[in-house]
Amino acid sequence: TPDDDRHGNRAVPLVLGHRGASGYRPEHTLASYELAARMGADYIEPDLVSTKDGVLVARHEPEIGGTTDVAKRPEFAARKATKVLDGVSVTGWWTEDFTLAELRTLRAVERIPDVRQRNTIYNGRYQVPTFQEVIDLSKRLSRELGRDIGIYPETKHPTYFRKLGLDLNPKVVEALERNGLNRRGAKVFVQSFEVGNLVEFSRKLRVPLIQLTSASGAPYDFVASGDKRTYADLLTPAGLRDVARYAYGIGPAKDQVIPRDAAGNLAQPTALVANAHKAGLKVHPYTFRAENVFLPANLRSSAVPSEYGDLFGELSAFW
Ligand code: G3P
Ligand code: CA
Repeated sequence: TPDDDRHGNRAVPLVLGHRGASGYRPEHTLASYELAARMGADYIEPDLVSTKDGVLVARHEPEIGGTTDVAKRPEFAARKATKVLDGVSVTGWWTEDFTLAELRTLRAVERIPDVRQRNTIYNGRYQVPTFQEVIDLSKRLSRELGRDIGIYPETKHPTYFRKLGLDLNPKVVEALERNGLNRRGAKVFVQSFEVGNLVEFSRKLRVPLIQLTSASGAPYDFVASGDKRTYADLLTPAGLRDVARYAYGIGPAKDQVIPRDAAGNLAQPTALVANAHKAGLKVHPYTFRAENVFLPANLRSSAVPSEYGDLFGELSAFW
């Protein structure tokens, strides 16, 4: 069943600009978010991490070697470090080792330039935006476009940041409150892969929360605390009822909703959507675009531009 958006009662799927129009501009830049909105997205999606001085900025990961020009900046060569991020050893440069002022000297680059429509021509043009700038952009675009452009922030690696003394949650709450967005009816969803993170938000936020899940593995806060439950456990009928205590919906990977057979073709949808709806949860799956397909310039005037087109009536959103 399509989402009613809670705000406009529109019985149509929501269009969420995943990392902005990330097939066309370096992801998580103001240019990428703005293009997504102008292409028809209802929401723009910043992933949030922290700087050394505790400012929320939009990056998919704290490690920024592949999404900025930091590797080419000799003055930051000594900042390169190997760290364990959610159990995985990663070498690179880390937002928590840069003040906002330092981070602002960097420029975004395309993360996967070899993928068809992506390229490097926009490299070096855009700064890493703060969360406040993303909010400001959504307000300006709402005025300019004459329709509300929502925000759909995701807290990235909250347990990791908390251990560093850079707790993401209070900053998110504070930013939403400062901008008049911590209220029912604000066009905001907050999402996370970590359960404890969302439970904590549920006590502080009045906007709907989305529990992200992955096809395998477990929420990292569970792993860190020795809790053996996995994402699969969250998605059983009983697990979904528990999720519904704190969340408005789930954000599964699309293959958890419509799997592929051994040949790679789309198979029948799983029971996940029906089970989630039974538990009172909406379903906002990610990511409905194929990297090798050019999306039409205006999503609103088109059918869902992918092989999922005839199945998306089962879903409530796509990215
Ligand atoms: O936010 C849902 C979806 O964005 C999760 O994917 O791109 O953050 O890894 P990503
Ligand atoms: Ca995300």
